[in-house]
Amino acid sequence: QFTPRVFSGIQPSGNLHLGNYLGALKRFVDMQGPEMETVYCMVDLHAITVWQDPKELAHSTRELCAGFIAAGIDPEQSILINQSQVPEHAQLAWIFNCVARMGWMQRMTQWKDKAGKNQQNASLGLFAYPSLMAADILIYHATHVPVGEDQKQHLELTRDIAIKFNHDYGVDFFPVTEPVIEGAATRVMSLRDGSKKMSKSDPSDMSRINMTDDADAIAQKIRKAKTDPDALPSEAEGLEGRPEARNLINIYAALADQSVDQVLAEVGGKQFGEFKPMLAELAVAKLSPISAEMARLMDDQAEIDRILARGAERARAITAPILKRTYEIVGM
Ligand code: ADP
Ligand code: NA
Repeated sequence: QFTPRVFSGIQPSGNLHLGNYLGALKRFVDMQGPEMETVYCMVDLHAITVWQDPKELAHSTRELCAGFIAAGIDPEQSILINQSQVPEHAQLAWIFNCVARMGWMQRMTQWKDKAGKNQQNASLGLFAYPSLMAADILIYHATHVPVGEDQKQHLELTRDIAIKFNHDYGVDFFPVTEPVIEGAATRVMSLRDGSKKMSKSDPSDMSRINMTDDADAIAQKIRKAKTDPDALPSEAEGLEGRPEARNLINIYAALADQSVDQVLAEVGGKQFGEFKPMLAELAVAKLSPISAEMARLMDDQAEIDRILARGAERARAITAPILKRTYEIVGM
């Protein structure tokens, strides 16, 4: 009933990093093709659930757009948009705020993590974040959503919202979306602490590899990455209980388009002193062309604005009829 359509997004909250690239962006590029329509989004409405300096937000949104294109998203083949320019996202989110239950939201681990101890002082938007995310996806009737591991719970909530809407109104209108969490690097961890994910939202983490880092910075961060004293194993079981080793191997595998087993067959027995320069070389080879292209695209910001305006127009051809039908179903 639903034609296959991919939707996913990234927040323009600064510092697009290696985790975003391997867990999201690179996989967005891999899903582009004639079989599926692909819609990719800079989610600025999500970004402002925590404070964003207006000038920086505008800059980060354009930089993120440049990052999408530099990484290989073709704005002709994919629909490339900034969320606030397609108002149906926020309009459907309101309907979903009235479908979702407080208790569902309260169970979200990202809400608990981001709000911290002082929940009373968190924005209402931060609490409602997953409802807007459900709207981002379902306003396109998207069937497949490539995301990192950290978004799994939000995708389950998206399914719950679709199911409850369909049930409450007695329709089969919204698809029950499939999360696509695949590959070696769906959860890239911090290079200084193997128990925390690499994240934009942790400004104190100097070990984070940013997409705009130059070759020296990338090599230095990998050289300094926390490791253990043992040699690398030649099979995946040998990574049990070694989160830092596992993380570096996962990163290598995702960058090289190999499986973890393939990588370990090659590097098993090596010490980190030997493996880290290999990883640094691979990371620089893959990331440098992207950051160079990002810088080049950022020289023509008017062109980026044109691409986003065109994307919004194409997007609205899909979202406006779906919102209209939703309103009719609700009785509006
Ligand atoms: P962040 O968590 O860095 O603020 P976003 O919330 O904008 O980034 O997430 C954008 C996409 O990047 C999501 O699909 C998310 O799952 C993915 N992602 C974020 N951090 C990581 C990570 N460390 N490893 C793998 N994927 C990640
Ligand atoms: Na995230």
